[in-house]
Amino acid sequence: MSSHWSNRGHLLGLEDLSRDEMLQVLDEAQALVPVAEGQAPSTSDLAGRTLATLFFENSTRTRLSFTMAARRLGADVIDLNASTSSTAKGESLLDTALNIQAMGVDGMVMRCRASGGPHLVARETRIPVINAGDGRHEHPTQGLLDALALQRGLGRRTFDGLSIAIVGDIASSRVARSNAWGLTALGANVIFTGPPSLVPEAMGQLVTANGSTRGTLRLEHDLDAVLETVDAIMMLRVQFERHGGEGIDEDYTSRYGLTLERAERLRDGVPILHPGPVNRGIEIDHEVADSSRSLILDQVTCGVAVRMAILKGLMS
Ligand code: CP
Repeated sequence: MSSHWSNRGHLLGLEDLSRDEMLQVLDEAQALVPVAEGQAPSTSDLAGRTLATLFFENSTRTRLSFTMAARRLGADVIDLNASTSSTAKGESLLDTALNIQAMGVDGMVMRCRASGGPHLVARETRIPVINAGDGRHEHPTQGLLDALALQRGLGRRTFDGLSIAIVGDIASSRVARSNAWGLTALGANVIFTGPPSLVPEAMGQLVTANGSTRGTLRLEHDLDAVLETVDAIMMLRVQFERHGGEGIDEDYTSRYGLTLERAERLRDGVPILHPGPVNRGIEIDHEVADSSRSLILDQVTCGVAVRMAILKGLMS
């Protein structure tokens, strides 16, 4: 009998989450989708609790959906404005977190530039810490919301035997890493696709199946070679702010963009995902991003439900 995922006390990554734990969170999130959509009333599960959000990198979806999720559960939210906070005077991440904990908050959501930042804080605090993206390392709630959007889009609880391509700037992407762990835990065979400059050979060693129910991970530098075989496709943003475009050739869109022509070659029913924000016209065409098979906005709604489940599990 596996223990409940929330016994871990924090959510720092999907690498350590078992298949059963992934499914527990996703089942709990699935039940909360009507509340996230505003179709069912908010609850008072976290009445009297306060969540702190600390974002040291920009965010629209993650930050606001954590706030929505907390409010739909009856919690209060305080938000650190990193640019006007005392971190600008040199206060460390850990000191910042300890001071906010000392104000009596009950949980902390943290995004930071340094890989491992939330792990460092979690070791020193007595309240739940939720990783909202640490450097290039992990973005676990994104991995969970992508899995929930896929479950709903494909009408399946697990992905055993399915091929899922994740395309683009893999090297910079914490979303790719969390999805590699999360989707393979649910049985998918994940294909990292993009130019060698953005999909280095070492990424192929990230996940090993080890004879378990875990799916596989492999690299493929030719998108067109896998396009007609995949069961789902996730396009990633080219993260110009991390590498200044180095390693991105002029023909990037013609070789790796999900153009209308490529989208028409996908098999019927293959959903298209993108974690956002989207560089329209670079990794995905306007018409494709807005097409009926795009799950982009469903992903956002699933994000509120997943974050409700996480907050409820860790802060109740
Ligand atoms: N997908 C994602 O993390 O988006 P934000 O950076 O806007 O939070």
